[in-house]
Amino acid sequence: MDYRELGHPCVVGLQWGDEGKGKIVDVLVEHFDVAARYSGGANAGHTVVVGETEFALHQLPSAILRENVLCMITCGAVIDPAVLLGEIGSLRERGIAIGDNLRISNRAHLVLPYHRREDVLSERAAQAGEKLGTTARGIGPCFADKATRRWSVRVCDLFRPERLRQHIADVVARKNAYFAVLYDQREPLDAARIAEEYLELGEQLRPFVCDTDVLLHDLMAQGKRVLFEGAQGVLLDIDHGTYPYVTSSHTGVGGVVSGAGVAPATIGAVVGVIKAYATRVGAGPFPTELPGALGETIRQRGGEYGTTTGRPRRCGWFDAVAAGYAAMISGPSMLAVMHLDTLSGMEELQFCVGYRTPAGILNEFPADAYTLGEAEPIYEPVAGWNDDISHCRRLEELPAAARAYLDLISTRLNTPVGIIGVGRDREQTIFVESES
Ligand code: GDP
Ligand code: IMO
Ligand code: MG
Repeated sequence: MDYRELGHPCVVGLQWGDEGKGKIVDVLVEHFDVAARYSGGANAGHTVVVGETEFALHQLPSAILRENVLCMITCGAVIDPAVLLGEIGSLRERGIAIGDNLRISNRAHLVLPYHRREDVLSERAAQAGEKLGTTARGIGPCFADKATRRWSVRVCDLFRPERLRQHIADVVARKNAYFAVLYDQREPLDAARIAEEYLELGEQLRPFVCDTDVLLHDLMAQGKRVLFEGAQGVLLDIDHGTYPYVTSSHTGVGGVVSGAGVAPATIGAVVGVIKAYATRVGAGPFPTELPGALGETIRQRGGEYGTTTGRPRRCGWFDAVAAGYAAMISGPSMLAVMHLDTLSGMEELQFCVGYRTPAGILNEFPADAYTLGEAEPIYEPVAGWNDDISHCRRLEELPAAARAYLDLISTRLNTPVGIIGVGRDREQTIFVESES
């Protein structure tokens, strides 16, 4: 297809993250001039595989691997400067040029050492069953401080040394007191050390810092084409996800508008990325989870281990109720269905079309995570296929059962399938030709 038809599209995950957004951004972005990461932070882990080489991007947009694409981290994302600079350093060592092709927002909020500490302490202190299973990257506490308006540090603050020293001294004194009372953490953080460390990190970041709101609009006015790269997935969205088992940012399409500073009409298309089955990492309800041998088979075949934490991902069947809800609130123009290859060799697949709960049958995705936790999936069996499909490059080459399975997903989500993933590599991608 002609990807110019997509206008300025956004790539969003329609499940609980790790759908394969990194790969999709990597394959689509060659048709674009600019890529903007608009939400999340270093909790994300986006994998791009090029031949024998594998890249795991956390803080940087996946598009950084493509020459001639200007990458931005806009103010909806939070930035951990040490992680960002570490990632820049290791990519440079691997021959990726990073300089004028990266811009970060002066409005973005920063993750500080006390955020990471609070993330770990609060998880440790939570009762069994109340733990969120966060990535321990300080994301929740950083977004919480952003919302207080008193305790946060933004990128632009790094360039006012006296104010920064004073502000960090005030915040750290309060954080130390808070950690001591709430978590019995008696080892205080050293405010002066943190301030000097961040001033130094700020100097290293300085060449990349600008007002990305203005830059983005200038570039669009010049006719440059932008791809918005989401992190996490809609079911982890702070408002629409399985709260409280969510992340702390707006991971869906709404996040583009607030996080990148663009009008809704700017978003030309929504590319909804979805796995042919379902995974989740961390805690929270997951009705179609397969905790036994079958789940382990999917995990092994799909290489389902977290890109950021290395944790084994929980694996299960495709949940059309959850995905239908995610699609309803995201309005995808097309689906990118990933990991179809991982399901090869299974005689029969199960497709969840509803939930059985103590209160009766549910066909809608419930707002309450605890209702979802009690839900038993209602499955429709679907014929599997045996063939290895990892070499397929055209829709017609897929076995009939695989195509029927894609049709089922497409019909349930009322969205055409535009891209199919049949392997990890960039090349292992099928672009579906539209019939019109
Ligand atoms: P993201 O967070 O959405 O970017 O996804 P991750 O990179 O965390 O996880 C997706 C994993 O699946 C990565 O290891 C990818 O290399 C891999 N992957 C992506 N698409 C496919 C696919 O179509 N088939 C297979 N087998 N692996 C894929
Ligand atoms: P990408 O962009 C999968 C999950 C964590 C945890 C919850 C809250 O790679 O798809 P946080 O550290 O954000 O406070 O953790 O959200 N989580 C992800 N799961 N993929 C991600 O990102 C995730 N980012 C956060 O496991 O359950
Ligand atoms: Mg990931």
